[in-house]
Amino acid sequence: MTAPDNKPTIRILDARQARAANADLSETLSDCINGGASLGFMLPFAASDAEGYWHEIADAVEAGGIILAVAEIEGRVVGTVQVGLASKPNQPHRGDLMKLLVHRCARGLGLSRRLMAAVEAEAAGRGRTLLVLDTATGSEAEMIYPRFGWQRVGVIPDYALWPDGGFCATTLFYKRIG
Ligand SMILES: CC(C)(COP(=O)(O)OP(=O)(O)OC[C@H]1O[C@@H](n2cnc3c(N)ncnc32)[C@H](O)[C@@H]1OP(=O)(O)O)[C@@H](O)C(=O)NCCC(=O)NCCS
Repeated sequence: MTAPDNKPTIRILDARQARAANADLSETLSDCINGGASLGFMLPFAASDAEGYWHEIADAVEAGGIILAVAEIEGRVVGTVQVGLASKPNQPHRGDLMKLLVHRCARGLGLSRRLMAAVEAEAAGRGRTLLVLDTATGSEAEMIYPRFGWQRVGVIPDYALWPDGGFCATTLFYKRIG
């Protein structure tokens, strides 16, 4: 859905909307991985490889375990981010920020800033006061989280693999919200 002036729109999706957006979400995830982002998957990776993952996310949205936000331009999803709502009885206040993705065709437009603001507000509205995330050390994403008010905690070496192989360190961040 796009505003009349064709500006990008940000919205929180329910499960039905998440399922309807599967193809665009898959294309965005595939584009980011093929652009070199460490997102849990290895190359080669096509949009069709992501469809099952997004079905699982839609199911988690339906179960109330994930908040899913998207950015759309002219009706097409080109960006997304999630907050996983911690379910342990001793962590009712915490969420895990995951999969901040902006398709390469839509970068530099401020979409990640708007996505983060939307999902943080939604998480705060659901009673969450602390968010945590990890991101590949040395990535563009690592540089932008401090601009959004996130606190850098430290680095874990050899945490995961880059999409084309080779160990990738991860940097941990947290942010108090609400
Ligand atoms: C990281 C990413 C989400 C940024 O998306 P984006 O929509 O292009 O970012 P924005 O246009 O909202 O820019 C956000 C801020 O970061 C800054 N920024 C953007 N790219 C930057 C870069 N390469 N280096 C430094 N700062 C950068 C912008 O100037 C802006 O700052 P401001 O709002 O204070 O002016 C995008 O590059 C991406 O999807 N990367 C691949 C996936 C990934 O690694 N995700 C992280 C998973 S944890």
